Amino acid sequence: MAKTGRREFIGGAAAAGAALITAGTRGLAQSARAADSRVEVLVGEEIGTISRDIYGHFAEHLGGVVYDGIWVGEDSKVPNTGGIRTALVEAMKRIRAPVIRWPGGCFADSYDWRDGTGPRERRPRRTNFWVDAPEWPEGAPKDGPWRYDPNHFGINEFMRFCQLSGAEAYLAANLRGLGAQEFYEWVEYVNSPPGTTTGAERRAAGPLGSRDPYKVRFWGVGNESWGCGGNFTPEEYAAEYRRFTAAVPRYGVDLKFIASGANVDDFNWTRGFFSKTAEKGAFLFGGIYGWGLHHYAWNLGLGRTNDWFAAKGDALKFNEAEYYELLREGDRMESLINQHWAIMGQYDRQHRVKLVVDEWGAWYKKGSEVHPTHLLGQQNTMRDAVLAGLTLDTFNRHADKVAMANVAQLINCLHSLFLAHEDKFVLTPTYHVFEMFVPHMGAKAVRALFSAPEVRYARVDKPAEFWGLSGSASVNGGQLTLTVTNPHMTEAREAEVAVRGARVASARARVLSERDVHAHNSFVSPREVEPRDEEVRTPGAGPFVYRFAPASVTRLSITVA
Ligand code: AHR
Repeated sequence: MAKTGRREFIGGAAAAGAALITAGTRGLAQSARAADSRVEVLVGEEIGTISRDIYGHFAEHLGGVVYDGIWVGEDSKVPNTGGIRTALVEAMKRIRAPVIRWPGGCFADSYDWRDGTGPRERRPRRTNFWVDAPEWPEGAPKDGPWRYDPNHFGINEFMRFCQLSGAEAYLAANLRGLGAQEFYEWVEYVNSPPGTTTGAERRAAGPLGSRDPYKVRFWGVGNESWGCGGNFTPEEYAAEYRRFTAAVPRYGVDLKFIASGANVDDFNWTRGFFSKTAEKGAFLFGGIYGWGLHHYAWNLGLGRTNDWFAAKGDALKFNEAEYYELLREGDRMESLINQHWAIMGQYDRQHRVKLVVDEWGAWYKKGSEVHPTHLLGQQNTMRDAVLAGLTLDTFNRHADKVAMANVAQLINCLHSLFLAHEDKFVLTPTYHVFEMFVPHMGAKAVRALFSAPEVRYARVDKPAEFWGLSGSASVNGGQLTLTVTNPHMTEAREAEVAVRGARVASARARVLSERDVHAHNSFVSPREVEPRDEEVRTPGAGPFVYRFAPASVTRLSITVA
């Protein structure tokens, strides 16, 4: 990212005769000061089309995600549509949720899809993968659907949830526990036309049955196959992947297989898989839609310990160093994308395989979950909104490389958009970021350059730095969308915004920021964090100045000619 000194900006802004923004509804006072930062949007420099699926979701049978989160049951007093929480569906529609990954996560590799079919009362009760997880909150019951899954939420229920929400399904197949044959039969159940197979008949028989095939395109072949998904070596996994995907019936659907990719910076996993696949024949890359990548952000170390289990920070109680270090960890996403992409390109020279970041988000220690059954449940503050903003911007900037991303996880787990328990339901700050980024979906990403004074803070006993402003830009017809994150906990950044290659006709801002970065929404106070809209004054020609609030995510909607 370009860095420019304060003096240079001041000169630049003054010379450009930049206009200043108007006051926001919460009193962002009009400033007479010159800009100290710069944002330059290069409308002519296209990066690629932003896949809508970058704004995807992930729902696993884990703690309160499915039971209590998505599925409340048809007889519940909680408003539901065929057993599915109606408030959740309505909120998903508002953010145009493009895709949902299910049923895991680690759960996927111990899940038999057949258990979740047929009459609910006859479905088997199975031990959930997470039954003995050390992270269960104090007071969590020893029984219940969170530990012993009654399979009331199966494939038909999930597909109904997708249909109601307007999202596509991304099904993760069990590579560790089931064979390739069961995988083909799942594809058959889901996609074969009516009247052709027993699978199609069972699908239609219900409950929540469907005569029409679901036409599911996205299929994950195992999850974290380097770990919970089988402890394979990358070479072994490459062979398994080929075996599973060699001859899957299509039923007229353009199947898109997603291989189980690397954990964070495990470049050997990427190299091993790609080199082994290339050895067999580079043509095989044409059959791989996506290569997974998982990266969670947690407060590692900070002078305490390097044991990531013990060193996770708190979702609600964090100091300045923990705030910035969490963002820094999440911000590694950019270099991870670049580095995995470079390795992939050594073998798949035409880059037919794209990246699918099918798990990302912040991961804290237990204690802030809204109910003890919500294993890995956690609160979501303005810090998480900033992390979401900078991560989604990263994906936009790499629109040529990232085909899909799935925030982990949708509801009641890790970096959630929703928290729910029984009839209580709340949108988190991260939900609002997803809502603000909707105009980027399917738009053309264009290059944007950011320069701002760096943030300086103390990391344990040594000084540390973090970038001052970052973001992404996209164009859709006459609409330019510029999203910007200011990570500074306390200082605003006054930026000169220049659009090169188009004339700015007007601009509006939507801002998510709070005085306190610990601010969050709760069942008691559900609207503590919400975006606000602001007018932006733009001069007839040339750049304008906008003041980015501290610890904020901002969307500038700019009409260009
Ligand atoms: O999202 C929680 C877990 O994190 C997933 O089940 C697994 O894939 C990852 O390790």
